[in-house]
Parts: sequence; structure tokens; C-alpha cells
Amino acid sequence: EVKINIAIDGPAGAGKSTVAKKLAQRFNYVYVDTGAMYRAITWLAIQTNTDFHNEEELYALLTSTSLNMKNGANGELVLLVNNKEVTEEIRSAEVTGNVSYVAKHPKIRQEMVHKQQEIAESKGTVMDGRDIGTAVLPKAEVKFFLTASVTERAKRRHEEQVKKGMDSDYDTLVKDIAKRDKIDSEREVAPLKKAEDAMEVDTTSMSIDEVVDFLYHATVKRV
Ligand code: C5P
Repeated sequence: EVKINIAIDGPAGAGKSTVAKKLAQRFNYVYVDTGAMYRAITWLAIQTNTDFHNEEELYALLTSTSLNMKNGANGELVLLVNNKEVTEEIRSAEVTGNVSYVAKHPKIRQEMVHKQQEIAESKGTVMDGRDIGTAVLPKAEVKFFLTASVTERAKRRHEEQVKKGMDSDYDTLVKDIAKRDKIDSEREVAPLKKAEDAMEVDTTSMSIDEVVDFLYHATVKRV
């Protein structure tokens, strides 16, 4: 059986990670959450009091750190920074609020992209992020660009946080998501953008399972 790479990009909260994880399970592929990698270095910057705007210091921090990812028993992503599991920590509000500043730096991106390309070399990955179809895997066999309205994305995030028993404010989420989209779309290196050959899917009125089914069939049809 031929293995391929599937790239899934889109703005914050469009459901990429949930969908990518489920799609990977259907194909028995490896799920690669590239946002988690940027979150991990941001988490480490917080721990070490490294300035988010200092590219050289962040780069030194990144190159002296071991960053490992694996898929857990339920297909979920497990992230290890210097062998410490930080799967929960990287989802904190502090990390989420600052990750886009860290992800702007060209040297940080170059290093991350290199790692991501290595992982995808043997194919059989579903990789989600912002620049997968445009920069990381421009030759990915199948590319999707998932969108949803800002209010729908904030609503989903809000429901998810409430379910987890976390503090959550809908209006703050709308603002945070819009701000992160703006930084991600306007940065100079590899901004968030639909690849020309990506299929755009507006998930605003679709359930997770509907999106997964849709992507599954679209993928099967194309390869
Ligand atoms: O996907 P997630 O929301 O976890 O990504 C966190 C942040 O990491 C994004 O807002 C973006 O700034 C950055 N990111 C990126 N390129 C990727 C994946 C994530 O710049 N491929």
C-alpha cells in the first residue's frame, strides 16, 4: 500500500488537531501536531525567562533542547521536552497567548520545519499547522485548508474549556483567536495562507465526524 502525506492548515480553533488525529487513526498514519512544537519552545521560554522577542536566545534555547513527539495509545499527541512530558502545560493560556510571537522568528521556523520534514520523509503522516501545505510539505499528496467563522471557533473552544472544567470567557476567546490569526497571517516568514492546490473546507456548520468523513473520502478519491 502506498503511503502519502496529508497536510492540514487553517486558523486557530478550526478543529484541525481533532480532525487530523481522527483522520490519522483511520489511515493508521502518524499524527503530527506542529503547533505543539511551537508551543513547547514557548513553554520552555517561560520556564527559563527567555524573552519571546529575542530570536538569538530562543534559537540557542531550541538547539540545546531535545524535543520529541509520539502518538499515545488513543492516537493523542504526547510531547516531551528534555524528556519531561508537557502535553498539558503547552495548552495553558500563557503559552497560547505568546506562541505566535515565538513562531514569528525565521531561525525558529527553519529549525522546526527541518524537524517536521524529517518526520514526514517516510510518509504516512497527517500533519497539521499553518504552513504545512505552503512551506513544510509543498509536495504533500493531499492538502486541506480548514476554516470556520471566528465566532464559531470561539464557541467550540469555549465549550471544550468548560467541559474540561477550565475558566473560560467567550468574549476573551473571540479576541484572542482574532489576535492570533492576525499575527499568524501577517508575519513575514511562512504566514498562514491557503496553498493554491489545497482544498478549502468551511467547517462552520459541520460536526467533527462530518469533517473527518469528508476529508477521508476526499483523500481516498485523490490517491
Ligand atoms: O495549532 P496551534 O493553535 O496549537 O498553534 C499554536 C501557534 O503556533 C499558532 O498560533 C502559530 O503561531 C504557531 N504555528 C505556526 N506554524 C505551524 C503551527 C503552529 O506558526 N505550522
